[in-house]
Amino acid sequence: MSELKGLILSGGKGTRLRPITHTRAKQLVPVANKPVLFYGLEAMAAAGIREVAIIIAPETGPEIKAAAGDGSQFGLEITYIEQDAPRGLAHAVLCAESFMGASPFVMYLGDNLLRDGITELVETFKREQPDALILLTPVPDPQHYGVAEVDNGRVVRLVEKPKDPPTNLALVGVYMFTPSIFEAAREIEPSWRGELEITDAIQRLLDRGLRVDPHVVHGWWKDTGQVQDMLEANRLILDDLEPEIEGEVSDCRVEGRVRIEEGARVERSTIRGPAIIGAGSRIVDAYIGPYTAIGNDVTIERAELEHSIVMSGSEIRDLDHRVEASLIGRDVRIGRGPRVPRAYRFVVGDSAEIAIL
Ligand code: DAU
Repeated sequence: MSELKGLILSGGKGTRLRPITHTRAKQLVPVANKPVLFYGLEAMAAAGIREVAIIIAPETGPEIKAAAGDGSQFGLEITYIEQDAPRGLAHAVLCAESFMGASPFVMYLGDNLLRDGITELVETFKREQPDALILLTPVPDPQHYGVAEVDNGRVVRLVEKPKDPPTNLALVGVYMFTPSIFEAAREIEPSWRGELEITDAIQRLLDRGLRVDPHVVHGWWKDTGQVQDMLEANRLILDDLEPEIEGEVSDCRVEGRVRIEEGARVERSTIRGPAIIGAGSRIVDAYIGPYTAIGNDVTIERAELEHSIVMSGSEIRDLDHRVEASLIGRDVRIGRGPRVPRAYRFVVGDSAEIAIL
């Protein structure tokens, strides 16, 4: 088998993560203070892949390029390919056809996270040499995913987001392909949502009698397309956090696995891990509870937070009640207003969500 290449899909619109994605690519939303996309890039590098193409959208492409650069920070060589509009995963694959040439490749959806990486899968693919290898995992809500029917260890049928799912086996967003996928992608028609579905292209491989091997994922997997999934991914990654205190801590209780990055200052506060506090942040008279990731240069004063993500540059002050299960974007300010008149005062972007007591 010739050298395996990588393809990461980082285009799309991210409508389910608005308003964060009004200004930012969903693949750059941080999970445990690292952009989701970077986990995929690191997994590729760990599996011995060197040449990777990233599919980008015209709107968010520049930001993705600025973050991942030429790939040298990951030990990769990255080429960017612009997809003019989100016309579907199979369309994205076709955009990468000339980059891939005759090479087999791993496709990784840029908003997916796979705990155990892809090294073992790449080995299996190289050893078994099927025409494609797909990853499956049982889920409680298969109607939100591509779903597979498997018989005697063979994939027999695939359907994208079926109303009435035939099984609970969801397609995980990591796929291994040979160049046979290009012809299949050219043969399919757009789905009801107007996209060229990769699920339909793989079904096409099956229809032509080609071999599609299933591999059931045992470690956790997350598609971070929605807020709850993002928080859950944050929780899962923080569960494996290596504790390290580099910042300054004074008059505090620090319990469990906590990372406080360089230049962060924590005073008169309780930090209960797993939690991470980014470089340059200030936490004063506060409580930071389990499963919380505070980005860089954030200020939290006289407030309590738990099971949340706070992105860089934000300030949270003087709250009477605990903040939990929240995704707070960059440079956001949350605090008390003047005493009278007693009123809520909001300056909130499109599609934001606020829940008050
Ligand atoms: O997460 C797994 C699921 O991913 C699979 O179970 C489904 O079979 C598969 O179709 C896909 O479903 P989603 O609806 O979650 O895909 P989404 O639109 O979120 O796109 C996944 C990634 O690909 C995301 O990082 C954006 C990028 N993308 C998406 C489209 C439609 C592109 O780069 N170009 C595109 O045209």
